[in-house]
Amino acid sequence: GFATSLPLIFMKKIIILASGNGTNAQSIMDRFVDSNSIQVSLILSNKPQAYVLERARLAGIPAMSFNRFAFAKAGQIQSILNQEKPDLIVLAGFLWKIPSFLIEDHPDKIINIHPALLPHYGGKGMYGMNVHRSVIENKEQKSGITIHYVNENYDEGAIIKQATCQIDQNDTAEDLASKIHNLEQQHFAATIEELLK
Ligand code: GAR
Repeated sequence: GFATSLPLIFMKKIIILASGNGTNAQSIMDRFVDSNSIQVSLILSNKPQAYVLERARLAGIPAMSFNRFAFAKAGQIQSILNQEKPDLIVLAGFLWKIPSFLIEDHPDKIINIHPALLPHYGGKGMYGMNVHRSVIENKEQKSGITIHYVNENYDEGAIIKQATCQIDQNDTAEDLASKIHNLEQQHFAATIEELLK
């Protein structure tokens, strides 16, 4: 009702960039669906077929896909982001490098989730199952998630939060993936809420 909802102008805005399934994007959408201070205002994907776009559609959140050209300097994405003025840009399983002009446009407002304990198991090519396979191959006893600010280099920005899980001797890469998935569900949206408070 009128008395309990703030005018939209006071809403903090999150824009999510995602490339795939979108389970992280989903948990963020779910957390703020009834919020009167924080909203997911837009979901962007570099893959037109990504299931995350269907999740956005089901949630009634505006979404679109873009190609390399639209992502390049002075492209459509830069203009959209500058128009929207998001309080936070969240990379949730987004696999392209963020160009430095976007980082300069949105200082300290772009964050990423990485499915390992950075500074280990990061860098180019280290995403999704690739990360879990190499953690298991190296017989690590723990792994985890890292939520961090995004800078010019892959997986090197300041760390905001880490959470760890134990790896059992017989765990496969798939077992580890599911432990990481649980950590992401537990911590990502909650950390975003903390950052926007
Ligand atoms: C998540 O595990 C995320 O941490 C990882 O991709 C997965 C996306 O899943 N991100 C990276 O590997 C980034 N280097 P989702 O699409 O279901 O959220």
